Amino acid sequence: MSGGIAAYKAASLARGLVKAGATVQAVLTEHAAAFVGPPTFAGLTGRPAHTGVLTDAHRVLHVRLARETDVAVFAPATANLLAKLAHGLCDDLVTSVFMCLRCPVVLAPAMHTEMWAHPATRANLAVLRDRGATVVEPGEGALAGGDSGPGRLADEDELLEAVARALGTASGPLAGRRVLVTAGGTREPIDPVRFIGNRSSGKMGYALAAEAARRGARVDLVSGPSHLADPPGLRSVRRIETARQMRDAVMQLCDDADVVVKAAAVADFRPASYAAQKVKKDDEGFTGVPLERNPDILAELGRRKGHRVLVGFAAETDLAEERGREKLHRKGLDLIVVNRVDAPDAGFNVDTNRAVLLSAGGGRSEVALTSKAGLARVVWDRVESLLDETRPPAPADASTP
Ligand code: CTP
Repeated sequence: MSGGIAAYKAASLARGLVKAGATVQAVLTEHAAAFVGPPTFAGLTGRPAHTGVLTDAHRVLHVRLARETDVAVFAPATANLLAKLAHGLCDDLVTSVFMCLRCPVVLAPAMHTEMWAHPATRANLAVLRDRGATVVEPGEGALAGGDSGPGRLADEDELLEAVARALGTASGPLAGRRVLVTAGGTREPIDPVRFIGNRSSGKMGYALAAEAARRGARVDLVSGPSHLADPPGLRSVRRIETARQMRDAVMQLCDDADVVVKAAAVADFRPASYAAQKVKKDDEGFTGVPLERNPDILAELGRRKGHRVLVGFAAETDLAEERGREKLHRKGLDLIVVNRVDAPDAGFNVDTNRAVLLSAGGGRSEVALTSKAGLARVVWDRVESLLDETRPPAPADASTP
């Protein structure tokens, strides 16, 4: 715990974890201890709550605590704590333990809205996410001093769920499964001002990621630019811009995935060269934007498929099913979700969708007009049966932060 008013909620979280069967070790910063006393945590957890790095110095307390830990939860994580963690400062017990951890890390930020929105906090969170930490986003509501807004510690149930997921003990039909989802469109820069992009909003991919997390999976999301907030309960969210950045992120994350769902609308082409200075309209030398091919990420995954279940999307405006079936086979997929993107109530940037699901085994099912969350549920139902047919669940997660 670090020093914010939400420290009082950490007491209830500690109790919830003990009730769920965990052995809980409380570690408080000096400021956290000013909000809620260590005896409260000692009473709730049945173990002494630690605050000082010099306690038990001969046994190197921070190293010992980190080694004993299966999952570390920083709740509340103040703006100050996030800054320290992102930069590797270790001037107290909480930050020193963090530096020694080799287990999953769950961060539960809580702070005033201004601090939450500050670019420094955003940048620090991006660094920590990039290193594998799960961030349980704060909610909106009453804050200290009578204020109200985003920045309030996430609900206890959400935190307990994130811990269970990090431990691989979440419940649900996808518990123990590792899922990678891509979402949104990519942007291919022409110059510092302009890019080639597409109309994808990310809504379908975010709905798929959220539904997989709800079913207990450990979910990584790789997203093109989107105005949507991170879905709750994910292990990581990486935001990228270009198809090549998406490819690199997917290749890094796919190795231990059981399922990859490629809902992203990846640009097939990019400008062959990038103009470092803005192209001016009276530039005589400007003759157009020559294009070159981007890598086909899904086809590459299909070539090195291994044990993974591969799900693709086909965004079509004509001959949808025929083209979808061709993509299913050409890209080596298990399942393809074919949707029309030329209807006003389906495809890009709307909340509804309709689709035909085609599977490698010859299966075909139609999904009538529904919400994107509804289509996500149908897709995961289908993937669950594909997994059950072929692959037993993997052992609990042992990844490092
Ligand atoms: N895809 C990908 N990498 C690309 C292009 C597409 O991974 N460079 C993936 C998409 O995420 C989607 C599937 O391939 O899951 C089909 O995308 P779509 O745009 O419908 O098809 P394309 O392969 O681009 O073919 P075409 O442009 O001929 O429709």
